[in-house]
Formats: sequence, C-alpha cells, structure tokens
Amino acid sequence: MSAEGGAAGYSIRLTDGGPEFACMPGDTVLRAALRSGIGLPYECGSGGCGTCRVQLKSGELEDLWPDAPGLTARSRDRGFRLACQSRPHSDCTITVRVPLKLGLEQRPRRRSAVLVSKIAMTHDITEFTFKTADPAEFLPGQFALLSLPGVTGDRAYSMSNLPNEQGSWSFVIKRMTEGAGGRALFDSMSVDDQIMLDGPYGLAHLRADSTRDIVCIAGGSGLSPMLSILSAASRSGPRERKLDFFYGGRRPADLCASTMIERDALLRKRVSCFSSISDSTYAEPWGGARGFVHEVARRSLEAGSDPTSKDYYFCGPPAMTDAVQRMLLDLKVPVSQMFYDRFV
Ligand SMILES: Cc1cc2nc3c(=O)[nH]c(=O)nc-3n(C[C@H](O)[C@H](O)[C@H](O)COP(=O)(O)OP(=O)(O)OC[C@H]3O[C@@H](n4cnc5c(N)ncnc54)[C@H](O)[C@@H]3O)c2cc1C
Ligand code: FES
Repeated sequence: MSAEGGAAGYSIRLTDGGPEFACMPGDTVLRAALRSGIGLPYECGSGGCGTCRVQLKSGELEDLWPDAPGLTARSRDRGFRLACQSRPHSDCTITVRVPLKLGLEQRPRRRSAVLVSKIAMTHDITEFTFKTADPAEFLPGQFALLSLPGVTGDRAYSMSNLPNEQGSWSFVIKRMTEGAGGRALFDSMSVDDQIMLDGPYGLAHLRADSTRDIVCIAGGSGLSPMLSILSAASRSGPRERKLDFFYGGRRPADLCASTMIERDALLRKRVSCFSSISDSTYAEPWGGARGFVHEVARRSLEAGSDPTSKDYYFCGPPAMTDAVQRMLLDLKVPVSQMFYDRFV
C-alpha cells in the first residue's frame, strides 16, 4: 500500500497475525474494514457506544470526533481510538481486543441518494424516503449512515422498509430538539435534494433462520427498524408465528405505530400492536396502556405464554433499551434471543 496514501489509500494491519486491509481516502477504519469483509466489532457506527475501540500500535490516525462519548480521555491517552471515528494519515497497525468476524455477507457501500418523499407522521416524526441508482440491499433491522448538508459527522438512521430492487430507502426519523441532523432533514432539505448514503450497517437484524414468535419493543424513533423487521417477518417464516409490537411514547400525539401498520395490509393482518403512553399527568381519555413501554410489555409477557420461547427485537434511547434488557433478563430470556440497537 502507498505510504503516501493518496488515491491508493493506506494499509491497516491488525496485530497478532490478523488480516490487513486498505482504507481509501476519506474512509474511517471501521467502514474500510467492513467494506473489505472484515468484521471489526461495532454497534452504533457513530461514536456513542465504544464497541469499536481499537489500540493504535503504529502510524497516525486522525480523530474525527475527539469528544465522542464512546471513549474516555484516559483511554485516548493510552492509545485507544474509536475505529468509527478514525481516519488514517499513514499506514497503521492496530490491536483489536474482541474476536473478528470474517467473510461478511453484507458489505457497506457509499453512494448518492436523492430525497423523494417526506411524510409527517406526528408533530416530530417524519418518514423520509431516498432513492439510489442501485438496489437497496440490507437486512431488515439494519441502518445507514447519512451525510447531511452542513452537518459534521454522519448520522445513523435505520431503514423502515424492506430491501428492494428499486433502490428505495425509507427512514422514520424523530426530530431531537436542537439536533443538527434533525435541523438539516426537517428544515433545510426538500424533495430532489441529494445526500450521500453509506450502508448497510448493524447487527440487530432479523434472524431469518429462527421460527420463534417475535416480540418487538420500541420507544419514539425506535419505530423505524421494528417496521422493517415486522414487515419481513410477516412475509416469511411460519404463518402461525405470533408478531407482537409494543410501542411507547409520552402522549397519544407522539405515537404513530398503529397508523404505519395500518398502511400495510399484511402488517395489519399479522401484527398485534400495543401502544402505550408514559406521561402520568396526561388526564384525557386514552384507550391504550399506561406506563413505560418495558413495564407494559412485561405485564403482557407475564400474562402470556413462556417468555423464554420468543425472539426479542428492541430499539430506542439507551435508557429504554437498558430497561427492556433488564426486564427480559429478569424473565430469564437468554441473551442469544435479544437483538437491539441503542440510539446513542
Ligand atoms: C444504530 C442507530 C440507529 C438509529 N436509527 C434511528 C432512526 O431510525 N430514527 C431516528 O430518529 N433516530 C435514529 N438514531 C438516532 C440518530 O442517529 C441521531 O442520534 C438522532 O436523530 C439525533 O441526531 P441529531 O443530529 O438531530 O442530533 P445531534 O445532537 O446533533 O447529534 C446526535 C448524534 O450525532 C452524532 N454526532 C454528533 N456530533 C458528531 C460529530 N462531531 N461527529 C460525528 N458524529 C457526531 C452522534 O452519534 C450523536 O449521538 C439511530 C442511532 C443509532 C446509533
Ligand atoms: S461503533 Fe464506534 S463508538 Fe459505537
């Protein structure tokens, strides 16, 4: 590999006899590894979780986000880096402490995408659909990294639709107050605007080889990947398989899961959707459950058939996913039946 980088990029070598791969100009170490079929450990792909931590042994890595919450200043001083926030400025050698997965089926690619529709679902949740020239290849539950105009750092958004030949990528996105990505998507971007879309990423995808009943649990923006997983599960697997979806928000105006499920005839037929609200001060009549979504799901699971016989997919803010995970462990659900993304 060229020591000068340039068009040929830089070479990243793993210590202890691990593989070597090329990192092309502008790419991060994590994305380059995955594009080469080398499964470096990762979760969020956006600096928040720390799963992609590697130790730099030689060479120079630019830190794209020095304040990323996924790494402490102390770890940084000891030579650790986040592979998802590191761009090489020379050939490098790194150590990865968690086993690698080799020969990945889904290799991410970066391509341009055009915004084709923007449909408001609630006061702060909108469905954005982009179109790419080539097919939209991903596993239900995965996410893409979007480079948005005027925003530093890519943002992770999970696909809500199914993989398709037409190159259609839909994302259900919740606007966070003061967020830069939200500002770009909700305020600045219009239909026909172009962005760069990199994907697919993510490990919390539908396990197509399992025939167990499926329980999906989400709060707020966690809706997006759950729709994709439920759409795929309702079109494959055993017909008698139960598909339950617990979706929570603060108040009724925050919820749109039932509306989105109603749009699809198969989802409408196959999925039992239980919406809940958590704002205890909300005094208007409400036909659904009350409480945090993990509490509502727990009540239902305890009243139903053996909770350990199902697969669980869940997504949302870390406080919510942590609470769901604790609840499931309490019900003795094996970790191998839990698949989740924390929207860090
Ligand atoms: C795997 C995954 C899937 C997600 N899927 C969805 C989804 O389907 N729908 C949805 O609404 N939300 C989703 N999110 C959350 C989403 O990525 C954003 O965090 C959220 O929308 C707020 O973004 P913002 O730009 O508006 O806010 P901001 O506060 O501006 O940014 C928040 C996030 O952007 C990243 N970031 C901020 N600054 C930088 C920087 N300098 N360099 C690099 N990165 C930076 C970090 O990840 C940070 O947590 C997902 C998150 C993850 C990790
Ligand atoms: S994958 Fe890099 S911090 Fe989460």
